[in-house]
Amino acid sequence: MELEKHQVKQLNIHKNTLTPTTITMLYFFIGSIWVMFSDEIVFVFFKDPEIIIKIQTYKGWLFVIITSALLFLLIYKSRKQLIKKQTALKESETRYRQLIELFPEAIFVHRSGTILFSNKEGLKILSAAQLNDIIGKSIKQFIAPEDLKLVEKHAKHFHFHNHHAKKFECKISRLNGEKIDAETTSIPILYEEVPAILSVTRNITERKRTEELLRKSEKLSTAGKLAAAIAHEIRNPLTSVKGFLQLINKDNSNISFIPLILEEIERIEKIVNEMLVLAKPQAQHFGQCDITKLLEQTVILLNSEAVMHNVEIVMNDIETSLPKIYCDQNQLKQVFINIFKNGIEAMPKGGNIFVNARSDFQDWILIQFIDQGYGIPKEKIRALGEPFYTTKDTGTGLGLMYSFNIIKNHHGKISFSSEENKGTTVTLTLPINFKSKQTKAQP
Ligand SMILES: Nc1ncnc2c1ncn2[C@@H]1O[C@H](COP(=O)(O)OP(=O)(O)O)[C@@H](O)[C@H]1O
Ligand SMILES: [Mg+2]
Repeated sequence: MELEKHQVKQLNIHKNTLTPTTITMLYFFIGSIWVMFSDEIVFVFFKDPEIIIKIQTYKGWLFVIITSALLFLLIYKSRKQLIKKQTALKESETRYRQLIELFPEAIFVHRSGTILFSNKEGLKILSAAQLNDIIGKSIKQFIAPEDLKLVEKHAKHFHFHNHHAKKFECKISRLNGEKIDAETTSIPILYEEVPAILSVTRNITERKRTEELLRKSEKLSTAGKLAAAIAHEIRNPLTSVKGFLQLINKDNSNISFIPLILEEIERIEKIVNEMLVLAKPQAQHFGQCDITKLLEQTVILLNSEAVMHNVEIVMNDIETSLPKIYCDQNQLKQVFINIFKNGIEAMPKGGNIFVNARSDFQDWILIQFIDQGYGIPKEKIRALGEPFYTTKDTGTGLGLMYSFNIIKNHHGKISFSSEENKGTTVTLTLPINFKSKQTKAQP
């Protein structure tokens, strides 16, 4: 793995290794000196040709003996160094493996979507009994269908922008059928000399549950907040109406206040109407319904309003023969209307609202509404769905709260992604077979 490579490099730098080049160079150097100077020296000390011939024979043998001894020493030293290095490498590899094995988080190594390695925690997080249950298997098998697209998107992004750790959240399908929330950090590594990805996965189900509980308790207190907010919203226009009427009561000629009174009464009326709609979810009429048809009906209903605002609603990418879902048509229609209206209102200069719808593994239907409006600042996304949260002069801030309620009743999810001055995407995720869940939830 990459760490080992670094360690080998460090070993190379710190110990002067005897490479074949060094040994050959040394041999060449000694040989050349011998060839160049040994004869000269012999000629200086000896004049007798017979003696010189004898010496030259012995000299050759002496050269062979000296260089052999030297070569032996050099090769012996180099081998010793190599063995030492290999042992160090093996030790570091063992240490590294032990570290990964004992690491308290799940670690996986995978390449091209296939799992190559997992530590003990990895087995645990996937509820696998043995390595064979997961090694060689596709990662996709362990990703919840509704998050598969998201993970594929991350994987694509990961390859493009290599060498950076990437963190993302997704749902994992365990082998025992359970689904858990997980957070995964991935980095590129070399595994058995070939590029691969190392992912550290953490089970965050508890954290998510706590977050959800917090969110729920926030929403619960919403009922109390709502009552206070309604009282406040209605009291303000009522105070003005009362004030204006008192003025008229004193002096009949003060009729110029009448339009103002009417305006305030209209505001009260609008709030009361919205409240009535809000009260409707109790009257539920659930049944199987065709989402494509429902979307088309809503578009027909809103088309004139859209055209008036220079907006075109485009049924963009709608999966053919989407499975029917169990829902309350009128309520869902109301949600679509709210989302479309917000989209139209977010584009004062006009534009398009694209609608996409697809199913995910017969479990969920995903509907996206993409507008090109002024967008929502990041810090405001949390406020969406709060009663009376509005940024519009004539808004009530109840549309989304109502929509959140309906989607919750359908066991679905509503999420927003937005970029200021670019547009907003509202995604509805609705379960296809929530009927069984509902009968379970309400025996
Ligand atoms: N598509 C959108 N683009 C920009 N802002 C939006 C969008 N949808 C919702 N919002 C913001 O959320 C707020 C609340 O929406 P909503 O509950 O429908 O109330 P209202 O439309 O009456 O203001 C809006 O005032 C707006 O600021
Ligand atoms: Mg609205």
